[in-house]
Amino acid sequence: SQLSTVSITVVGASGDLAKKKIFPALFALYYEGHLPEHFTIFGFARSKMTNEELRTTISSTLTCRIDQRENCADKIDKFLQRCFYHSGQYNSEDSFRQLDIKLKDQEAGRVASRLFYLSIPPNLFVDVARSASRGASATQGWTRVIVEKPFGRDADSSAELTNGLAQYLSEEQIYRIDHYLGKELVENLSVLRFSNLVFEPLWSRQYIRNVQVIFSEDFGTEGRGGYFDNYGIIRDIMQNHLLQMVALFGMEAPVTLDAEDIRNEKVKVLRSMRKLKLEDVVIGQYKSHVKGGVKYPGYGDDPTVPKNSITPTFAAAALFIDNARWDGVPILMKAGKALHTRRAEIRIQFRHVPGNLYKKLFATDLDLATNELVIRVQPDEAIYLKINNKVPGLGLRLDKSNLNLLYSERYNKEIPDSYERLILDAIDGDKRLFIRNDELEAAWGIFTPVLKALEEKRVSPELYPYGSRGPIGAYYLAAKYNVRWGDMGDN
Ligand code: BG6
Repeated sequence: SQLSTVSITVVGASGDLAKKKIFPALFALYYEGHLPEHFTIFGFARSKMTNEELRTTISSTLTCRIDQRENCADKIDKFLQRCFYHSGQYNSEDSFRQLDIKLKDQEAGRVASRLFYLSIPPNLFVDVARSASRGASATQGWTRVIVEKPFGRDADSSAELTNGLAQYLSEEQIYRIDHYLGKELVENLSVLRFSNLVFEPLWSRQYIRNVQVIFSEDFGTEGRGGYFDNYGIIRDIMQNHLLQMVALFGMEAPVTLDAEDIRNEKVKVLRSMRKLKLEDVVIGQYKSHVKGGVKYPGYGDDPTVPKNSITPTFAAAALFIDNARWDGVPILMKAGKALHTRRAEIRIQFRHVPGNLYKKLFATDLDLATNELVIRVQPDEAIYLKINNKVPGLGLRLDKSNLNLLYSERYNKEIPDSYERLILDAIDGDKRLFIRNDELEAAWGIFTPVLKALEEKRVSPELYPYGSRGPIGAYYLAAKYNVRWGDMGDN
């Protein structure tokens, strides 16, 4: 209503994430009518900038979705009128007190709630939490803080960060983003499982042979090497994005759709997972490659990467959930940069049909006989089930076909960016898609020992050419568990 308002402060406003994701997401929420009638957006960073300068910088990244193109320039103008800038120090309560004065000015006596998006390196999180909570907390409405990974480098440093934040903010106020949870198909995973009779009864070790969670990008670290080299692909993608998908895939049905009920189930799955062992991990790093006369750089060629770095840009891992439902089912993960394609998907391979009458027709390859359910998170969002059918005509020949839900055919609608959904949820106080502190702790528990072992033993990554399918080692790892990666063929 006119009497209340929300103020959103993007701390670290001149950073990459702010420009590429946060401001565009806020703008989309605005033109789709999801922001409150009255709102204020502040950019906060160290560099000196005027409001106008901030507006110019962010306007260059704002676009309207196809169905919202009408008067787009107008919408941008109106949005920018609500954007302001304040320069200050991250560890200075004073800087945030000055921000508080400016915020109050814009809030103009309304009941104001405040959201702080910490789009800054995590070593600054606690400083900002302290100064912002002391200097610029809301007085009547709520105060919430969004933070985003990396949450530490291992179990200990993550716990330290959690404790540091807890000195100034309650768990209720902290919104830990994993932007994969904001992806349409990841959110849909629970709908698929729990509202279709045909899947849930099959969802266990009894019928599922293995699960594969695959992430690949067709570009390297390109300029982000400074950040990346300190983390590597296991921390950058597996411990969070892929593991979150596994939790949603494997959890029991929650009591209700409430945030606490859902996260209670997720944390149970995570805590049931075996600590990953060194022999169940393969790491790789991309090297330069010449293709069609173009030279693609190796990871070490990135000027922001230290010489002789052994940081993995690729990893494959075999994980296990040691509970009644999933005992013995290999959960294979694979994540890599500078591979041949960009894609993220979950592949569920079912067991063989016992006593299959048509076995002879599959004589060459028994794998062909099994069903596979694929949830393609991106690009070209889709859910498809591979089934066996008869080729029409006289005689008996079998074929494999897809029962296919391809989003672009089914829905004439652009799918919103995950940051839109997540920022909106934070404003609404809906924590379903945010990571709870015990989830984070359990997630680190699975990966910390192997990360330590890789570093202590200085395990060298297997080199793979830029644009390839990654190291051979990944095939052997899968083969060890009788698994074939499902993403090797056409679909
Ligand atoms: C980020 C990683 O969390 O996710 C990046 O830090 C990665 O390295 C990105 O590129 C991938 O996100 P998306 O949404 O483009 O698949």
